[in-house]
Amino acid sequence: MIVPVILSGGAGSRLWPLSRALYPKQLLPLCSENTMLQDTVGRLRDLPGHGPVYCVCNESHRFLVAEQLRATGVPVGGIILEPVGRNTAPAAAVAAMLLERKHPGALMLLLPADHVIADGGAFGAAIEAGAEAAREGGLVTFGVVPTAPETGYGYLKAPAEGGEGLRPRKVEQFVEKPDRKTAERYLESGGYYWNSGIFLFSAKAFQGELQLHAPEMLAACKRALDGASEDLDFLRLDRDAFISSPSDSIDYAVMEKTEHAFLVPLDAGWNDVGAWSALWSVHERDGSGNVTKGDVLLQDVSDSYIHASSRLVAAVGLEHHIIVETCDAVLVASKDRVQDVKLLVDELKKQN
Ligand code: GDD
Ligand code: MG
Repeated sequence: MIVPVILSGGAGSRLWPLSRALYPKQLLPLCSENTMLQDTVGRLRDLPGHGPVYCVCNESHRFLVAEQLRATGVPVGGIILEPVGRNTAPAAAVAAMLLERKHPGALMLLLPADHVIADGGAFGAAIEAGAEAAREGGLVTFGVVPTAPETGYGYLKAPAEGGEGLRPRKVEQFVEKPDRKTAERYLESGGYYWNSGIFLFSAKAFQGELQLHAPEMLAACKRALDGASEDLDFLRLDRDAFISSPSDSIDYAVMEKTEHAFLVPLDAGWNDVGAWSALWSVHERDGSGNVTKGDVLLQDVSDSYIHASSRLVAAVGLEHHIIVETCDAVLVASKDRVQDVKLLVDELKKQN
């Protein structure tokens, strides 16, 4: 059985000022009328026979997460609460251990809560295609053909001659967030994919890899789970034990090191909607290339994303801009500088 585990612990700071610490992007309806977490759950429709859904999130988001999951009607196995974020590897570690106890032999489908996937059918088919390799102990990744030398992604090198279609190929190399020059080299040489951040493996095999490559993390996470307290659907991890875990991403802690990674190509309109420019690109544009939300008045504006939340936003004579208005903050940015919104958020944190 495939059991989905949704990681919903990110801050989404590059989507400030809509995305906030207490209301991060995955809990907002940014790409459809549902929130990104709910869209992630909705996509499981294309994976018939999957097990109950688990979610790992920060304890401060527990009620929002529980309410949003309940509204989807999907059976919920549990919501694991982290006292603080220790990045994705410890989150996946506690989920794998819990799954092994509750659903022995289960395959764990690790899903980021904040992605857009346009073609649910292609997504479901890719997951099904990876199941056998995962059952045999492989750590299956889902690779997207890269279109630009992005430095915020992991890169997977896998032979193209592994057969056409969705047959899993052995990953030769996994490089997380390479520098620009390296990413450019990968694109030129071909044979590299972006890591979509979705993983499929047996809960047991993943623990074996952690034992090999991050034993200290595995031990701390085991203590956090053993000391956890249960309350309805919530499983509150032991605070001290979880905090004592090293903080690392699954990509650095396991995927770069494992010798058992496989790749299934994912051609499903994937977008990780990391920044405002990505939101602009996933929405339908008007004749001038603009995406507008709310009460917006434009004159001579093109290729821009304008979002009004609480009042009229009017703009004249702009191109390639992002304007996002909320009741207590307004962002105005050039569309090619949206990655740096994170710097503004870092600065705000220092001031507060
Ligand atoms: N529960 C929990 N706890 N979830 C977390 C935590 C945490 O501490 N940190 C991040 N997450 C969640 C995020 O909400 C997101 O859904 C997912 O885990 C991935 O984390 P990101 O922080 O967004 O990772 P990334 O985008 O830098 O990189 C990953 O995704 C890329 C594709 O979008 C990597 O897997 C890359 O290799 C990949 O290319
Ligand atoms: Mg991300």
